[in-house]
Amino acid sequence: MRRAKLAVFASGSGSNYEAIVEACRDGRIDADVVLLVCDKPGAKVLERAKRYGTESFAFNPKDYASREAYETVLATMLDERHVDYVCLAGYMRIVGHVLLERYEQRIVNIHPSLLPSFKGAHAIQDAVDYGVKIFGATTHFVDETLDGGRIIDQGAIVYEGNDIEELTMLIHSIEHKLYVKTINKLINKKY
Ligand code: GRF
Repeated sequence: MRRAKLAVFASGSGSNYEAIVEACRDGRIDADVVLLVCDKPGAKVLERAKRYGTESFAFNPKDYASREAYETVLATMLDERHVDYVCLAGYMRIVGHVLLERYEQRIVNIHPSLLPSFKGAHAIQDAVDYGVKIFGATTHFVDETLDGGRIIDQGAIVYEGNDIEELTMLIHSIEHKLYVKTINKLINKKY
C-alpha cells in the first residue's frame, strides 16, 4: 500500500506541523507531509518547513478576488501532489466549499478546547475566564462552520493553576499526541 500524503495548513508557530512531521519520520505515522500551506507570509511555521525540507506555499488571501479564487489554486496544488488528507493546524480561516467538496471528509482541524465549548481564536483564554477546570484539545472533521464538524478525538487535563503560559504549553503537548492518533485513524479509516 502506498504511504499516505498529507498537507498541513498553518499560519502560526507550527508546533503541530513539526509534531506531525516528526511522527512521519520516526514511523509513528505511515505518511509523508508533502506540502505546507501558510496564509501568513513570514509566519514561523515557514522556517520550520524549510528546516524539515517540506515544500511550502505561502500566500496572502488579500491578493485574491475571493475565497473561491485562492482555494481553487490550493485545490490544484493538492491534486497535483495527490494529497490524501489536509490537516489544519492553526490555519485561522474558514474553509470554503471549493476545498470541502473536493476533499470531503478528508480535511481535519485541531482546536485547543473541548469542543463544542469555546470555539474561536481565543479558546484557552475564554475557558480560563469562564473558570473551567478541565481543559483539552479536540480534533474534528472540518465543515463550513467555525470549529464545527464531527469530533474525532479529544484529550483533557485538569488544571487549577493560573499560569496561562503553562496551561497553553500543557494543551499544546496534548495536541501533538492527539494529532498523531487522529491521522492514524484517518489513514486506517477507523473513525
Ligand atoms: C493550536 O493550539 C491549534 O489548536 C490552534 O492553533 C494552534 C496552532 O499552534 N488551531 P501551532 O502553530 O501548531 O504551534
